[in-house]
Amino acid sequence: MKYIEVTFTMDDTGVFRDMLVDTLGNEGPYESFVETKDGLKAYVQAAEYDPAFLKATAQAFPLPLKYEAKEMEDKDWNAEWEKNHEAALVRTGKGTVYVRAPFHPHRTDVDYEIIIEPKMSFGTAHHPTTAMMLGYVAELEMNGKRVLDMGCGTAVLAILAKMRGASYVEGVDVDEWAYRNARENAAANGVDLTLRLGDATTLSGTFDVVIANINRNILLADMERYAAVLCQGGTLLLSGFYRADEGALIAKANELGMTLASNKNTDGWSALELRK
Ligand SMILES: C[S@@+](CC[C@H](N)C(=O)[O-])C[C@H]1O[C@@H](n2cnc3c(N)ncnc32)[C@H](O)[C@@H]1O
Repeated sequence: MKYIEVTFTMDDTGVFRDMLVDTLGNEGPYESFVETKDGLKAYVQAAEYDPAFLKATAQAFPLPLKYEAKEMEDKDWNAEWEKNHEAALVRTGKGTVYVRAPFHPHRTDVDYEIIIEPKMSFGTAHHPTTAMMLGYVAELEMNGKRVLDMGCGTAVLAILAKMRGASYVEGVDVDEWAYRNARENAAANGVDLTLRLGDATTLSGTFDVVIANINRNILLADMERYAAVLCQGGTLLLSGFYRADEGALIAKANELGMTLASNKNTDGWSALELRK
């Protein structure tokens, strides 16, 4: 299959590189990405390549964005990608979580090993928000708990909650790809999860722990629905936003009768533990 490689350069990679990946992958047909020192390389099937989409993306981007597209030599890109996709080892306050693809070697020197089929969905533990949330799921009591994972992506957090003894774990995502990938990953790890396609309007029941690693605006809009299914004394774990947005999320949680128990920060990203 023929692919096009587009090399993007920008003055400030910071949060802008993630923003670009989000646009190219979610609004466009780009399949894989490699971070570079001053930007990003993004890959799209030649048949799906649309110069007008790139032009519109660059025009709407908050910074000057330069890009150059070139056709790539035809070879087995899956095999190439696998060579460059590394497993992730997350060190938490209570043990290590090793998140690997099926083609990575099995390890016996870790506390939890999770197999994730790396496809289009988010949640391979390479992103700081996933790593911080894995930390919370590893550190907090999960035994016998009813857990909801909103925006489950690959279901990596739901799988760890189940491995840690949660009695019932529900994973919900609005994205069809994520839903299908989550089902595949639950099976690959031999854990029993209830997985559903949907958003916060579809929630019902009660949970001891609600996890949501999504983004600032969706968390602010949907927190009331999360709080409604969280039992008294239950824990809400939030991530997917920058440290600068912590205040807005904590204020919303306070309004809904929840208080901050702890927070984590990595590379400008934040995760919050809130108690109802
Ligand atoms: C940042 S990823 C997190 C994936 C995984 N939970 C993790 O921690 O790595 C956010 C996920 O939320 C999903 N999502 C976006 N908006 C949503 C919404 N309103 N309700 C539920 N899921 C949503 C996306 O499809 C995506 O899979």
